[in-house]
Amino acid sequence: MSKRILVVTGGGDCPGLNAVIRGIVKSAKLDGNWEIIGCVESYNGLLKDNIEILPLTEKEVAGIHIKGGTIIKTTNRGGPFQFPVQQSDGSWKTEDRSQLLLQRLDDLGIEAIISIGGDGSQRISLELVKLGVNIVGVPKTIDNDLSCTDFTFGFQTAVQIATEAVDKLVTTAESHNRVFIMEVMGRDAGWIALHTALAGGAEVCIIPEIPYNPNIIAEKIETRYKNGEGFCNIVIAEGAKRMDGEVTGKEPTAVGDQHIKLGGAGDKLKLELEQLGVQHDIRVTVLGHLQRGGVPIAYDRILATAFGVKAFELVKEKKYGNMVVYNHPEITYAPLEKVVEKLNFINPKTNSLLSSAKKLGISFGDKENI
Ligand code: F6P
Repeated sequence: MSKRILVVTGGGDCPGLNAVIRGIVKSAKLDGNWEIIGCVESYNGLLKDNIEILPLTEKEVAGIHIKGGTIIKTTNRGGPFQFPVQQSDGSWKTEDRSQLLLQRLDDLGIEAIISIGGDGSQRISLELVKLGVNIVGVPKTIDNDLSCTDFTFGFQTAVQIATEAVDKLVTTAESHNRVFIMEVMGRDAGWIALHTALAGGAEVCIIPEIPYNPNIIAEKIETRYKNGEGFCNIVIAEGAKRMDGEVTGKEPTAVGDQHIKLGGAGDKLKLELEQLGVQHDIRVTVLGHLQRGGVPIAYDRILATAFGVKAFELVKEKKYGNMVVYNHPEITYAPLEKVVEKLNFINPKTNSLLSSAKKLGISFGDKENI
């Protein structure tokens, strides 16, 4: 009898998800007697009234390493402990369906789950481990904010996309003597913004880890102009914090959605700069989901594929309760408890890339560097 592994992709999609799935399926096939099944739309495929699962054989995964998104779909709402259910009056509430999940895993004879996801997904994994489920995690997020791993897959693709966008904005900013503010993703950590600012040569980089003072940014902008001529490129993370700790976004409206919907940090900064009297023409570009969709770059395909192969190996060795990680040069693993202890923030005091950026004259909107 073959052993069954259930693969789940959870949270926001991310370039490289399909490459992980392919890595799992191909290495399991080579090993021998394994059956890989995909749960459709994160755990929802086993939590809905009608089960939705997909066989994942070499046929389904052929060539998918170059495809963006996830062939088994995903969601960043709900989960087994907070499943959104519509009431007869049309309203929504969440319900704990973890026991139903356990029952269905049992019915299907699932030996182990490989859960490909970010911080929220790995927290769910840990709760399921406590209920006796055999789980191995794989670190996914364009934000690169998961602990214990040098990089999550998807991050480098997002940086590449954002860098190409800065390159384009630099030429138009220069032609029109404009200030361009480009808002990138990065809910809690500013990795995409920092890497993009360095790669694209931006003058200002605003990240959640360093609350910004608009007066300092206004001063920096002026250093870039002489007799009205000049330009300035600013990269701002969506999770940028003002001095009072405020972020820009909307409260979640959908049931099961735990996060504030970030967005508008760039517009907010534009307004602040104008209120401070900055006279130059300021334009805002929001990259949004362009950073998440599409083809993964080679780096992410390689990392994601190696993660998939390692995840299968961990299942084979019954090393459950762990997440695959990249600690250069090794693809290895770390306990889920440690992974979810804290997010991987940029440490403004010790991060060497941030220090290089400051030495280049990139302003972070704080007092240390104008
Ligand atoms: O966690 C990844 C991320 O890209 C965040 O940077 C962003 O806030 C969030 O996903 C947005 O997700 P969605 O638009 O799917 O709700």
